Amino acid sequence: MTARPGGPLAGRIAVPGDKSMSHRALMLGALAEGETRIEGLLEGEDVLSTAGAMAALGAEVERLGDGRWRVVGRGVGRLAEPAQPLDFGNAGTGARLCLGLIAQQPIFAVLVGDASLSRRPMGRVTEPLARIGAHFLSRAGGRLPLAIRGAEQPQPISYRLPVASAQVKSALLLAGLAAEGTTEVIEPEATRDHTENMLRAFGATVTVSDEADGRHVRLAGPARLTAAPVTVPGDISSAAFPLVAALVVPGSSVVIENVGVNPLRTGLLDCLAEMGAGLRLVNRRDQAGEPVADLVAEAGPLKGIVVPPERAPSMIDEYPILAVAAAFAEGRTELRGLGELRVKESDRLAATARGLAACGVAVEEGEDWLVVHGLGGSGRRPAGGARIEANLDHRIAMAFLVLGLAAAAPVEVDDASPIDTSFPGFAALLRGLGADLA
Ligand code: S3P
Repeated sequence: MTARPGGPLAGRIAVPGDKSMSHRALMLGALAEGETRIEGLLEGEDVLSTAGAMAALGAEVERLGDGRWRVVGRGVGRLAEPAQPLDFGNAGTGARLCLGLIAQQPIFAVLVGDASLSRRPMGRVTEPLARIGAHFLSRAGGRLPLAIRGAEQPQPISYRLPVASAQVKSALLLAGLAAEGTTEVIEPEATRDHTENMLRAFGATVTVSDEADGRHVRLAGPARLTAAPVTVPGDISSAAFPLVAALVVPGSSVVIENVGVNPLRTGLLDCLAEMGAGLRLVNRRDQAGEPVADLVAEAGPLKGIVVPPERAPSMIDEYPILAVAAAFAEGRTELRGLGELRVKESDRLAATARGLAACGVAVEEGEDWLVVHGLGGSGRRPAGGARIEANLDHRIAMAFLVLGLAAAAPVEVDDASPIDTSFPGFAALLRGLGADLA
């Protein structure tokens, strides 16, 4: 797919449902007693893999219409043994959270995924889930394909996260639902709390206290979950792409409606505000326990900033597109605390640095940091004119297509198909705003 520089982007759009919340809605639906109705579910490949896994684990999963699904659950600790390997495709969240679900009962399962997922570390979840009582066999380095036998009698544990990861926290909380006693996860930095919010909506007791050594999340087990309706807002991690496109394509003015703005997800918005972006949140409201707003973006000059490492968990998926915004800003932008980017769908730190350099932007890359020397104010813009390898990474593909919309020359992405994992309809939606993407 190629993105060509063109005229201003204009219009109102809505992006597909939040990926994190969509996975969780299907999983909690599968564990709950009764029928869970979901509205606004992301129908991207990642979430469809999770829907397939929940059906294979014995839940009744049915698509009723666009983003409208029903799940009839089996109850905590009552999932069925799947007859075939569970294929999670590209989805790290689906695979890791599902290990927590399977760990609840003594069933056997095999997890497989695509080449990208098969490179990603799973030891971060299998190690603490083994303490809960589950057993694992995996490839070297704890990688997929991986076999699990869930616990005979899940034990409650207290676990301090060695890396800031909502996926690890969530896998442990899900496993802890079947344990007798309090499961505690201590996070040095707060990560997205959709699991905690949704567990409460399904009737579990989850408490959170900020203490000197970090945030303590405690779940009372064993828990019974009761089906509850879930309305999924638009994904801020998807909105980030048309948002930055609107900020960097001169003369643009775009509204993105119904975006989830949970404060543990909005680090990108803080950065863009500091960069002087023409960005406003309007029509703020609460929807099923999660804050939602419309984002209004207008193109204009941006300036370089220093992004502190402690902001990383609240914008972990947004660094590639923030780096693209930084390429158009005046002066240097310094991004710190990026170690986790190296183990995402691809090594995003390397891919971002390589892609920017190929597009004529000066960058410096360290083990866990990136400095982007923006071209804003120089009368020049990123040259573009490059072919970017997406390496099965949807966000790398989208970030560089956005860059191409405002560069001096077109940018081609070798394989745009991974975009469907999280943002089906991305190209059509941007074309509707006037972007030249083909
Ligand atoms: C996610 C958490 C993040 C994020 C991923 C979704 C989640 O991963 O990168 O896209 O839904 O919990 P980590 O928790 O591994 O940082």
